[in-house]
Amino acid sequence: MTDLIEELRTPSADQGTGAVSIGMAVSRVDGRDKVTGQARYAAEYPADDLLYGVVVSGTIPKGRIQSIRSDEALAVPGVVEVITHLNRPRIRSFDIFYKDMTAPGGAPFRPLYDGQIVYSGQPVALVVAESFEAARYAARLVQVGYACEPHATSLTENRGRAYKPSRMKAGFTPPPSPKGHADEMWDKADIKIEGEYYSGVEHHNPMELFASTVIRSADGHLTIYDKTQSSQNSRWYVSHVFGLSKDKVTVRNPYVGGAFGSGLRPQYQLPLAVMAALQLERSVRVVLTRQQMFTFGHRPETLQRVRLAADPDGTLTSIIHEAVAETSRIEDYVEVVVNWSGELYQCEHVRLGYQLVDLDHASPMDMRAPGAAHGVHALEVAMDELSYALKMDPLALRLKNYAEIDPSRGLPYSTKELRACYEQGAARFGWDRRPLEPGTMREGRELIGWGMATGMWDAMQMFARASAVLRADGTLVVSSAATDIGTGTYTAMSIIAADALGLPLENVRFQLGDSTLPVAPIEGGSSHVATVGSAVQGVCEKLQKKLFKLAQKLPDSPLAKTRFADVEFCGGSLRVSSQPGVAVSLVEIMHGSGNQRLEAKYLMLPNMLKQMKYQRSTHSAVFCEVRVDPEFGAVRVTRVVSAIAAGRIINAKTARSQIIGGVVWGISQALHEETHCDHRLGRFMNHNLGEYHVSVNADIHDIDVLFVQEDDRIVSRIGAKGVGEIGLVGVSAAICNAIYHATGRRVRSTPITPDKVM
Ligand code: MOS
Repeated sequence: MTDLIEELRTPSADQGTGAVSIGMAVSRVDGRDKVTGQARYAAEYPADDLLYGVVVSGTIPKGRIQSIRSDEALAVPGVVEVITHLNRPRIRSFDIFYKDMTAPGGAPFRPLYDGQIVYSGQPVALVVAESFEAARYAARLVQVGYACEPHATSLTENRGRAYKPSRMKAGFTPPPSPKGHADEMWDKADIKIEGEYYSGVEHHNPMELFASTVIRSADGHLTIYDKTQSSQNSRWYVSHVFGLSKDKVTVRNPYVGGAFGSGLRPQYQLPLAVMAALQLERSVRVVLTRQQMFTFGHRPETLQRVRLAADPDGTLTSIIHEAVAETSRIEDYVEVVVNWSGELYQCEHVRLGYQLVDLDHASPMDMRAPGAAHGVHALEVAMDELSYALKMDPLALRLKNYAEIDPSRGLPYSTKELRACYEQGAARFGWDRRPLEPGTMREGRELIGWGMATGMWDAMQMFARASAVLRADGTLVVSSAATDIGTGTYTAMSIIAADALGLPLENVRFQLGDSTLPVAPIEGGSSHVATVGSAVQGVCEKLQKKLFKLAQKLPDSPLAKTRFADVEFCGGSLRVSSQPGVAVSLVEIMHGSGNQRLEAKYLMLPNMLKQMKYQRSTHSAVFCEVRVDPEFGAVRVTRVVSAIAAGRIINAKTARSQIIGGVVWGISQALHEETHCDHRLGRFMNHNLGEYHVSVNADIHDIDVLFVQEDDRIVSRIGAKGVGEIGLVGVSAAICNAIYHATGRRVRSTPITPDKVM
């Protein structure tokens, strides 16, 4: 049974934190370790005789490596080896071994496999040295000769090659078949709108750089500290690529400095560090540079076309939504972009389409709310446009077409409190004071606009295991190979366990971030709380029953004649609910029964047969105010109210932080973020935080988050749905709509930079 793994430094709440219950606002149990630097990240683990690897990035988008000259690099004092496709250790040759648990269909990129170049910035060599400085200097001296081939990196220029994805990833739902006669209805409608939308490439920019520290022990075992959203996914990948058995590799990720989807797949620093460790029989660390963070997955460039039609009273009569997105030549990366348009509003006539264009880029990757971030944006901007065509309030239009059952499949919702989001969000914002006409609010030189949008995301549940150990001193350790990418997993799981067993929070530790712990899914898709949280609840309920039985057997037990249904765990004791004075402390139960440890294991399998009968989603209503300087085109988002329906909230504080983070990113996506490709070179050019603009403190003003009451026991036994992604969805559309309300200018491409607003 899993006890505390010392090296993980599993955090615990401060002494005196005391009793907590689900839904309270609780500070992060890992907060102190993070702000004092006690929390270690992948690049920070020390090792004896550590070697440092620096990656040499390729400079052409397509072709073959003809020559590599390493002699100058090897002559630098301290340089140990230059690893290339010509001298690397043996790796597996079949594509299947490179498929991590989230790989899309196709053939994954294989770092240093052969001389083929499939995208610009691809790793072509790893320089390994006794110091980071020597490796970095020598990396500049490696000379690579290429044979170039023609490349294509522009989505707009290549959209004629669009095709339906043939190679899909597990879990992807292609757009459903057309419903009704959407095209005919649109053609003959009096009130209709049409728009083309463009979204540029965005790159993940978590604070922490991608890094792997591979610590090799004398017996050849590899302990790898990796920046990943799943230690078990990275362990699986390393085992498969290198043909190493499961017990030869342990991957750890107790702290992750943000990832947003970029850590769903193992990145290339991981196999490169392992190659060096195997070849040189040493411990090795590889850290990518900020520029190299732009040389793997990204949110794909996407083109969309939306057509909506309505009756004069606002009833939607046609929804047509088509998207064309970019993928790589080697994999069909797919997103659910258009399906939301058939799920959000009641409409009898819907046609949806989704196509890909393969380009000479790295495969795109999931980035926070993949698909919805673009698809719901386009739909919600189109809905706003339709509201003006109807001379109708945009919120009234949404309420007019409110879906009481899922319009796509006719299923009931597991829970859907979107109406409460609209009502409470609008009241908090003061939406009823909004003038219908655009361009009518002004203060000083600034035009003011109010916009709103709806958000929607999946409420998913995977399967997970958890184990728990209660010690005689009344401290509890619950373990699962989960991940905390900054989202608050440590704290949420600790709260669930403390609440279940009535223990003070500082007595509970939740241990995650090690591939040898009980199996947990990848932290992604906003599913971790519903999944791992339910496993934690389950294992604690098993402990409850064990404790109850032991308590009943104690000599002169006050609970001897009590039923389990009539007791509760509270204040470190097991007590009769109706008579709180009749109680036995958990410590007494342990001592009285002669137990040093009480253990339980639990496998949480979702009730899929039941879940399949329901549409399971989170919802949001976003209201925002912008102030636009019409001469400079500068936009300030001065006020955002985000009303969220995401099931039961486990930790009011970290859940709110998740939504604030989503709103900040939504502002960033609407106004700032775009990676520009120079198509002559086939390369992303603004590959640094100086030129890849993100929202900074000065861009962020008032953000107000409210959670409406929702409790969903179909999605999870703890009632939670998940808040990781819903906070982003709809924000960029609300901003776009507010800019229209301020200026009368409809901008259909993101980011909405000043030149488009002027
Ligand atoms: Mo998220 S894009 O599911 O890490």
